[in-house]
Amino acid sequence: MIAIAILAAGRGTRMKSDLPKVLHELGGRTLVERVLQSCQEIEISRRLVIVGYRSELVKESLIEAQETTKDREFPPLEFVEQTEQLGTGHAIQQLLPHLEGFPGDLLVLNGDVPLLRAETIKQLMAVHKQHQNSATILTANLPDPQGYGRVFTDSQNLVQQIIEDRDCTQAQKQNHRINAGVYCFHWPDLEKILPDLKADNDQKEYYLTDTVSSLSPVMAVDVEDYQEILGINDRKHLATTSDILQTRIKDKWLRAGVTLIDPHSITIDDTVELQADVVIEPQTHLRGKTSIASRSRIGPGSLIENSQIGENVTVLYSVISDSIVAENSRIGPYAHLRGHAQIGANCRIGNFVELKNAQIGDRTNIAHLSYLGDATLGEKVNIGAGTITANYDGKNKHKTQIGSGTKIGSNSVLVAPITLGENVTVAAGSVVTEEVPNDCLVIARSRQVVKPGWKLKEPEK
Ligand code: UD1
Ligand code: CA
Repeated sequence: MIAIAILAAGRGTRMKSDLPKVLHELGGRTLVERVLQSCQEIEISRRLVIVGYRSELVKESLIEAQETTKDREFPPLEFVEQTEQLGTGHAIQQLLPHLEGFPGDLLVLNGDVPLLRAETIKQLMAVHKQHQNSATILTANLPDPQGYGRVFTDSQNLVQQIIEDRDCTQAQKQNHRINAGVYCFHWPDLEKILPDLKADNDQKEYYLTDTVSSLSPVMAVDVEDYQEILGINDRKHLATTSDILQTRIKDKWLRAGVTLIDPHSITIDDTVELQADVVIEPQTHLRGKTSIASRSRIGPGSLIENSQIGENVTVLYSVISDSIVAENSRIGPYAHLRGHAQIGANCRIGNFVELKNAQIGDRTNIAHLSYLGDATLGEKVNIGAGTITANYDGKNKHKTQIGSGTKIGSNSVLVAPITLGENVTVAAGSVVTEEVPNDCLVIARSRQVVKPGWKLKEPEK
C-alpha cells in the first residue's frame, strides 16, 4: 500500500510573490499539479497534500485542475493544513493523525520539483521494495549543488545524514550529492520517530531530512539526468526549468513529425496536441488545451490558446483564444478570434478582423477591417471591408444573424438585434436596423445629392 504526500504549504519567500510558490506555472500547469502528475503511474491508495500559505488558493487550483484532467481513477485529494510553516519535518508531522496505523509506504514529494519523471519515481519505489528499506531517497550529483541538502553515505552506500547547504562546513559543501526532495518512507518506522524531531539548525526549522539519521537502512537512488530533480526556489530556477521543459516538449513534437522553424522563439505548453506535418513558424506560442491538425501552418507571430485548429489551416500574425477553426481556412494577418468563435471550412478571415462569439459558415469571407460579435453567419457570406456589428446598446449584448449567400457592402453597420435573410445584398455604407427578408437589395443610407453649378461663396473682403 502506498500513500503519497506533497509538501505544498510553504510561501516560497525567494519567489518574491504573493502567489504560493507551488501555484506558479510552468508550461501551462502549476508546479504542484506537475508533481501530482509525476505520481500518476504508480498504484496509490491515498493522496495527501499539505497546504498552509494561502491554502484556499492551492486547494481550489488543484481541485479545478483535477476536474479538467478527469483523473477520476485516483483516490481523492486529502488536504492537510499546516497552519504555521515550521519546516518540512513539521509538515509531515501534520500527517500523524491522518495516517495513524497506516501499514504501507509513504512517498513524500516536495511541491517544487516539477520536472520529475514518472519513470524515476517507479525506480525509487522498486529499490525501496526490493531492499525493504526503512527509507529510500532520490539523489543527484549536481555540477552546482548550492542551496541543496547534501547527502552523506557510508562505505556501503547507506545514507547516514543529510545536511542542509546553510548548515554545511566548507568541507561538507564539497560533496555534490544532493537530496532531491523525493523520499519513500516505510510509514510505521517514520511514524515512530517523527515526534522526536528537533529544530536544531540554522533556520530553527523541523527538517524532514533529519529523520534519515534515525532510520535504517536508508538507501539513496541517483537520478541519471539531474535536470529532472531541479527544485524551484526563485524566478531564476523557474526560467531555467521552463527552458528544460520547452526543450523536452519540442523534442517530442519534432520526433512526432512537426516542423518547428526557429524553435527557440516558439513556446508550447505540454497540454497542446499537434499532428504530424504541422508547421510552426517563429515567434508563435501555443497554450492551454490547444490542438492543431495535420498540414496546418501557424505563425509567424501567432498566439493560440485553448483552441482547436483543423487540417490545412494557415494562421498568420494572429491571436486565437477559446475558438475553433475548421479545415482549409486562412486566418490573418492580424486577426483576433476570441470568446468561442467558430470558423467553418474554407473561410478567409483577413486583415484586422476581430470575431467574438461568432459562428461562421463554410466558405464565408471576412477579409478586412471588421468586428463581428455575437453573430451567426451562414455559408458563402461575404462581409465587405469595414463592416461592424453594433452588438452592444450600453447595457446588453444582442445577436446578429446573416443568411447564406448574403453580401454586406463595405463600411456597413448592422445594429443588433438584427436578422438578414439569404442572398441579400446590402449596399455599401448602410446602417441596417430592421429585419431583412431573403433575396433582396437593402440600401440604408441617404442618397447622394448633386447640385449642378453650385460653388462656395467668395468670402467678402
Ligand atoms: C529541501 C530539502 C533539501 C533538498 C531540497 C530539494 C529540507 C529540510 N530540505 O530544501 O535537503 O535538497 O528541498 O529541492 O527538507 N514546505 C512545507 N512546509 C514547510 C516548509 C516547506 O510544506 O513548513 C514545502 C514547500 O512548500 C516546498 C517544499 O516543502 O514545496 C520544500 O521546501 P523548501 O523551503 O523549498 O526546501 P528547500 O530549502 O529547497
Ligand atoms: Ca526547494
